[in-house]
Amino acid sequence: MYNNDSIVRPEMRLDDERDRALRPQLLSDFQGQEQIRTNLSVFIQAARERGESLDHLFLIGPPGLGKTTLAQITAHELGVDFKVTSAPALDKPKDLAGILTTVTERTVFFIDEIHRLKPAIEEMLYIAMEDYELDWIIGQGPSARTVRIPIPPFTLIGATTRAGMVSSPLISRFGIVQRFAFYTDEELASIIRRSASILEIPVDQDAALALARCSRGTPRVANRLLRRMRDFAQIAGKGVITSAIVAHGLERLEIDSLGLERYDREILQSIISNYGGGPVGAETLAISVGEALDTLEDYYEPYLIQAGLIQRTPRGRMVTERAYAHLGLPHIAQQRESDDENQRLPF
Ligand SMILES: Nc1ncnc2c1ncn2[C@@H]1O[C@H](COP(=O)(O)OP(=O)(O)OP(=O)(O)O)[C@@H](O)[C@H]1O
Ligand SMILES: [Mg+2]
Repeated sequence: MYNNDSIVRPEMRLDDERDRALRPQLLSDFQGQEQIRTNLSVFIQAARERGESLDHLFLIGPPGLGKTTLAQITAHELGVDFKVTSAPALDKPKDLAGILTTVTERTVFFIDEIHRLKPAIEEMLYIAMEDYELDWIIGQGPSARTVRIPIPPFTLIGATTRAGMVSSPLISRFGIVQRFAFYTDEELASIIRRSASILEIPVDQDAALALARCSRGTPRVANRLLRRMRDFAQIAGKGVITSAIVAHGLERLEIDSLGLERYDREILQSIISNYGGGPVGAETLAISVGEALDTLEDYYEPYLIQAGLIQRTPRGRMVTERAYAHLGLPHIAQQRESDDENQRLPF
């Protein structure tokens, strides 16, 4: 039931490539993440003034919050080359060596999904990060020997959605570590207004805010929803994204005011109707909604938790009062009270 066509999931989809024009190029265009932005602007300016490479930078955060974007901006603001790869693409040490031997002075080298590095590659990276040298084996068999090749000082930017899976020796080699937070509705509304002006589609203030509210704290989702609303505005409206267009568009896409899709609501509904609101063990819940446990945990639960609709407790998952309110159901506590009242009725 894993829905790959989902519009509100934060993971990258193929058509997100079309968002390239929306990707900010400068730190001043990057909205939100106030702390990261101010820190980074100081570090970038200082490195520039000293003519040195920026310290290695580690970016942690859920999908779609702007890690890749910020890495590109950093290279751009430093005025240096930008090289990109992702850990799964680095299969053999020679794959990493191939890139490192082409870096120039102060290049920003970005490794995405850095939690997926193989141990041999990671070892090689330690030396490159620390000593700006490359361990290279020449020859084969008994005559093989290791030579150390110097490489220019560069900046490694590592990004991950799974900080817990990154080894501590690797993390400790990064001079700067920054964690992304989900964006507020106001920040997302401002991202939506900026993107709308690039796409040349007028958007009303309250419409931007309504879209922001169902974007799951994630700019990638906000931009995706905006593109869909642009279609509705063009076909069903007058070429302006108004609140009415947003309401119409979201209804057609079966996305509700909190950015939930039908399946998200079914999970909440199942906890309520089958388990009295919980707690219910994750395994049991996964079976009852016909989903694999890790899909439930990695794919569906994070937003339900982030939105305050379910809680993880030691005894299992529980829906919150907010979930009852959102589904328009009486809260279980109130329900019990009214049940009690009913029982007290003198028949
Ligand atoms: N702070 C921001 N301001 C404006 N737009 C942003 C911001 N952050 C992200 N975006 C937009 O969201 C899109 C997704 O961001 P990005 O690809 O950088 O996310 P990511 O954190 O690298 O995700 P993943 O973990 O899936 O690689 C970008 O193309 C950009 O248009
Ligand atoms: Mg990315």
